[in-house]
Amino acid sequence: MLKIEHLSLAIATSDGAKAAVSDVSLTLEPGHVLGLVGESGCGKTLTAQSILRLGEHQGIVRSGGRVVLDEQDIFDMDEKALRKVRGGRVAMIFQEPMTALNPVFSIGAQLIEVIRLHLNMTRKQAEMRAAALLADVGLQDGERLLKQFPDGLSGGMRQRVLIAMAMAAEPDYIVADEPTTALDVSVQARIIDLLRKLQRERQLGMLLVTHDFGLIAELADEVAVMYAGQIVERGSVYDVFQKPAHPYTRALMNCRPEMAKKGEPLPAISGQVPAPGDWPDGCRFAARCPLADSDCTQSVAEDAWQADVHMARCVHVDLAAGEAGG
Ligand SMILES: Nc1ncnc2c1ncn2[C@@H]1O[C@H](COP(=O)(O)OP(=O)(O)OP(=O)(O)O)[C@@H](O)[C@H]1O
Ligand SMILES: [Mg+2]
Repeated sequence: MLKIEHLSLAIATSDGAKAAVSDVSLTLEPGHVLGLVGESGCGKTLTAQSILRLGEHQGIVRSGGRVVLDEQDIFDMDEKALRKVRGGRVAMIFQEPMTALNPVFSIGAQLIEVIRLHLNMTRKQAEMRAAALLADVGLQDGERLLKQFPDGLSGGMRQRVLIAMAMAAEPDYIVADEPTTALDVSVQARIIDLLRKLQRERQLGMLLVTHDFGLIAELADEVAVMYAGQIVERGSVYDVFQKPAHPYTRALMNCRPEMAKKGEPLPAISGQVPAPGDWPDGCRFAARCPLADSDCTQSVAEDAWQADVHMARCVHVDLAAGEAGG
């Protein structure tokens, strides 16, 4: 298993370190998909990237907790061990397929580089594997494609190439951060089908970061909801969708595009996510929450949070659940 345990992250700025993620615990299991949702700026990408320590060169530092793979803390690994984990055990797929590919190298050169970095193969073997990987992700005519450059490909094809790269070294875990957001709607569904197929066939443990509850419903087994650097609710997709227990989760679910009435603007939660370092005491959602009262600014509902497999960090959790049911 791949475990994020009580992880806190800070952003180094000219005014000192700002807390950006606090006390996040998540578990990825082989064959399981964990969805991570939340508004923009809640810390989803920081959390996802921390699994491979990818934020380090942007001044993101760990301020507490661990990321544990096979009983080893990823933050304690040296560069060599980390390189093996990156792409080898845990692969990432990002939102923007153009920036993740290098425009000056052919698809083949990039794919073969990843293969040879992780697998002990001759150039010829790596070439064959590259062509086979392209076929695995539904790209025909691999031989020709390997000689092409990224800018000659459509967005959907580029994302397929990135997925091929992610699969190159047969990872056990995959972290997909908004993998379809940058694509046309018609292409999104096919990329999702592909991800689902690969995840099931290879029994990958997957972290899926998205704004899209529909995607979560389709792909994920469990879901974690993030707000202002914290996980505020976590449970099986069924439980969380049937009985969202945190007022924030309910607000998010009410803002799904399919909830919009014809001719009316998309519903949105009023107010804004507090920025890193600007978090209030007590519940961080209180300023925007319809159920907030004086309890909320003092308490952080740690008891309710620890209680169950379906957890919500809310002192009014019963009230919220009651309203959701009604
Ligand atoms: N390198 C950085 N330097 C400064 N601030 C950063 C950096 N990376 C992230 N942040 C800030 O940290 C917070 C969380 O960012 P993050 O990218 O994790 O959000 P997110 O939940 O992924 O949002 P989105 O849904 O828009 O992708 C935001 O306020 C963001 O501006
Ligand atoms: Mg993000």
